[in-house]
Amino acid sequence: MCVGARANSTPSPTTLQSCTRVKVTCKRSSSLDPVQYPQGRGEMPALLFSDLTVRALESIHILIEGRSVRHRESRNPSRSERMQRRHRLGPLPALLLIALAPATAAANDLGEKLAKEGNDNGAAACVTCHGADGGGNGAAGWPRMAGMNADYLAKQLDDMASGERDNATMKPIASGLSAEERRAVAEYYAEMEVPAEAPGTDAAKSVLERGQAIAQQGLWRKGVPSCVACHGPGGDGVGADFPAISGQHASYIENQLTAWQDGNRQNDPNDLMASVAKRLTEEEIKAVAAWFASQPARPSAE
Ligand code: HEC
Ligand code: HEC
Repeated sequence: MCVGARANSTPSPTTLQSCTRVKVTCKRSSSLDPVQYPQGRGEMPALLFSDLTVRALESIHILIEGRSVRHRESRNPSRSERMQRRHRLGPLPALLLIALAPATAAANDLGEKLAKEGNDNGAAACVTCHGADGGGNGAAGWPRMAGMNADYLAKQLDDMASGERDNATMKPIASGLSAEERRAVAEYYAEMEVPAEAPGTDAAKSVLERGQAIAQQGLWRKGVPSCVACHGPGGDGVGADFPAISGQHASYIENQLTAWQDGNRQNDPNDLMASVAKRLTEEEIKAVAAWFASQPARPSAE
């Protein structure tokens, strides 16, 4: 696990290269795209293995390992897993699944009802702000949720209820939902089609180019890995841990990065996002947010 490279502040290029290989192998074996390291340089910069980078790569590995363990143990498998199992198991379990269908429909009905009407316990109807199509509203800073990962959305609702993610608008709404209701409404939004159009931006071309470079290559001199290293190719999201940020409103992305800088959002595993956000200037945040908002949302990798 590159222990030598971490302990040694000026590792030799050979150590770095073999480490890079180990890391990339880890990521490949977890079916993520390998991290895009700057290529074609005689010597890799020592900053490549800055504390944040090492911590980030280790955390990704831990998160992915954790997720595969969770998936193996999961009693509530994802849709694609259910499909795979259905194919693997043949006709008898398929009949059982049909028998179980009303239970799933009931959960979705609950999610739909909460989204459209809210409840009597302080949860306002979600559609008022997040839109009937789940696309959110950029001018108001309301995020798109349609097509995002259900476990991720449910975690955010839990964190907003507990205050680990501190938001004055969402706190009473999330606290007004029971754990069962949070899960149902998260699944309802996760199953919605992603919006066809990108939210868009009026940022200048030069700003978008700067944003794209940060998103795809990072800012290595400052120890900022590329956003897509964690958020998946195109920023479309990977599983429950790395949310989609493509097709998200620029205002919302900016608000989140600022919230991490100010300490108002502290719910990221291993401080991954706080470490990234604290290294970005206001201008860099605006540029990278504008670029992701110019990209259409696409269904995320499982
Ligand atoms: C009055 C407007 C409003 C209503 C109503 C509302 N939300 Fe929100 N929601 C927000 C805002 C604003 C944010 C962004 C908070 C922030 O900036 O951290 C948000 C964020 C979220 C997030 C985080 C998304 C992410 O990508 O991390 C979830 C999940 C969420 N809302 C779910 C719901 C659900 C479920 C309902 C209905 C039960 C609901 N919201 C109703 C305004 C609203
Ligand atoms: C080392 C991995 C890592 C890198 C690199 C990274 N992120 Fe994240 N990001 C995360 C994780 C993990 C979360 C989810 C935090 C949580 O569970 O609440 C996240 C969440 C976010 C969110 C909140 C999304 C939402 O719907 O609430 C935004 C916005 C975001 N990241 C933007 C960025 C941008 C922009 C970059 C590049 C400058 C970036 N991230 C780089 C790991 C990373």
